[in-house]
This record gives sequence, structure tokens and C-alpha cells, in this order.
Amino acid sequence: MEMPRPAPDEKWIRGLPKAEVHLHLEGCVPYGLLEPAAAGSPPVPVEDGIPLLAGLSALLSYLDWSCGQMSRGEQLERIAYAVAERARANGAGHVDVIVNPTHWPHWRGRLPAMVDALDAGFRAGESDHDVTSKLCVSLKRTQSKAEALELVEVLLDLGHPRVAALSIDGNEEDGRASHNERFAPAFERAAAGGLRRCAHAGESSGARGVREAVEMLGAERIDHGIRSIEDPSVIALLVSEEIPLDVCPTSNVLLGVVPTLAEHPIRRLREHKVRCSLNTDDPLLYGIDLAGEFRRSAEAFGWGTDELGEMARVGIESCFAEEDRRRSLSAELSAYLSP
Ligand code: ADE
Ligand code: ZN
Repeated sequence: MEMPRPAPDEKWIRGLPKAEVHLHLEGCVPYGLLEPAAAGSPPVPVEDGIPLLAGLSALLSYLDWSCGQMSRGEQLERIAYAVAERARANGAGHVDVIVNPTHWPHWRGRLPAMVDALDAGFRAGESDHDVTSKLCVSLKRTQSKAEALELVEVLLDLGHPRVAALSIDGNEEDGRASHNERFAPAFERAAAGGLRRCAHAGESSGARGVREAVEMLGAERIDHGIRSIEDPSVIALLVSEEIPLDVCPTSNVLLGVVPTLAEHPIRRLREHKVRCSLNTDDPLLYGIDLAGEFRRSAEAFGWGTDELGEMARVGIESCFAEEDRRRSLSAELSAYLSP
């Protein structure tokens, strides 16, 4: 008879070398930095600094409200620094941070200044906490083809080493249409200009959205992607193309994409040999951290050190850090798992 294994302890989980690859800057704005009195009350109720989000649309409106108050470079610098600080406290040596300029109206037309402010925070975070960071600058699903191409041109002109990738997030209109054909030219131009590519799919879209993100956008990683489980041919595509999923189990439960953690498809996806990493998505909106995500998953799915180690491995191998950084994090992980 197979004996249930004890969950790895908190110290082991926290110390496990990791990289976080699905983390929105917008979900890292502390409530304490906001001024509901001056800016008008938030679009959703907030309890103890945590917004009560009924789903993805509520979350996106909340982000417009919160990020809409961030007008000063020092605020962005502080948010970026805190990302690195929290990453270290959770054992992560690298973070790929998604930033969607449409949520930040004070920075409209000033993306280079926005990147500079974030870069200052990330640089300080790297020197104080030995955490490297890259930005995945994100389109919103509702943007036009011309807006998408314009963003890519700005990024390529800027050529900032902090910017690693083009991303796309927002609401995929409940699976009715993800409009990938509209964004294909921007992603093609990004690839030709040397940017990496990731895409939200298989969260508010079904498995078809995942297939299109791979085939039409050339996504190298899929953010969420969990609804791939609905179509065996999409699972086969992810496996054959070795496309990893950046999974965020707590986010999926809180936004109603899956009913409970126990019913989350990550276990079945892994059984089908789909590579999955564990991530927080919007940690300050959900009141979670990365180590907690590993712990909760271990408890819910009966995972031990092997499974958590594999998930950390996928995060590190699929992150957009410089090659030598990726290699050294990978070596750190190997040493931790086989001391
Ligand atoms: N922006 C922030 N969090 C998001 C999510 N879970 N899905 C799509 N866009 C987002
Ligand atoms: Zn996300």
C-alpha cells in the first residue's frame, strides 16, 4: 500500500531555488500606497487591503483604479524594489514581471521613462537581494492591430536590456474570440526584433485560445493555459513543442476559473507530461506569496519534494533571464535537490 507522504516543510519550500515567471506589476501595488479618499472609492469592496474580486473583469477594473493613481517615478521604483525583496524572501532568484501600460494612464506616451523608473528599482533589488528581473511588456486583448504594432516599435526603438518580451493579457472575452489574428503581426515583428514572447491564454479562453497563442503568436510560454485540458490535441501540441504553462492555482480559484484547488487541472496536465511552473499572478491582490503557492499545491495534490523540485525547475528553465543567470539558478536548484 502506498503511504501518504508528508508535505515538505516550510523551510525547505522557502529555500527551494525558484524563478517566478507569471507576476503582474499591477498586482504588486500595495493598497497602502493608494489614496481612496483622493482618488474616489475602489470599484470593488476592499477588506484589510485585499479587493474582493468577483472575476477577471472586476480585477481589471480594480487595476485601472489602483495603477491610475501611480504618477511618480519613485512609486514605480519602490514597487519594483519590493518585487525583488519579496522574491528573495520566497527563494526566487529571478522574476519575469508583466507590465501592461494601458493600466497606467500617467505614463501614457512615456514608456521609456516608465521603464527607467522600474529599472532603477530592479537594479537596487538585484544589488541588495541578488534577484534578477526582466520585463514582459504587455498588450491588452482589447487593443487594435495598430496600437499593438506601435507598442512593439516603441520597445524595439528603446532596446532597453530590462525589456525581454512582448506579452498579452486582459480578458479574452470568455472564449468567444481571442482575436489572435489581430495581434499576430505585432508578435511577428517582436520576434524579428529579438523579443521573447508569452501570452495569456486558456484562462478566459478555452483550449483553442492556447493553440492560437502558440500557432499565431509564436508564444514560447503560456500564462495560465490550464484550459488546454479541454482538448487532447492542444495537450499534444504543448508536449511536442515543449511549451510550458505558467500556472497560478490560487488566482484560478479566486477568479472562478476553477471551482476549488482540489479540482485544479494542473495535476492532470502534469500526468500528460505538460511542463508547468507555479506562480502567483497578482500576489498583493490575493494576499499570497510564492512559497505559499508551493505549500498549498503540495497539500492539495499530495506533492513531495520531487514534484515541487520539478515545478521550480520548469520556472527556472523557462524564465527570460540572461543565459548565464539561468544556468547558475539551475545549478543552485540541482545542488539543493541532491546535496
Ligand atoms: N492582468 C492581471 N492579472 C490578470 C489575469 N489573471 N488575467 C489576465 N490579465 C491579467
Ligand atoms: Zn496573469
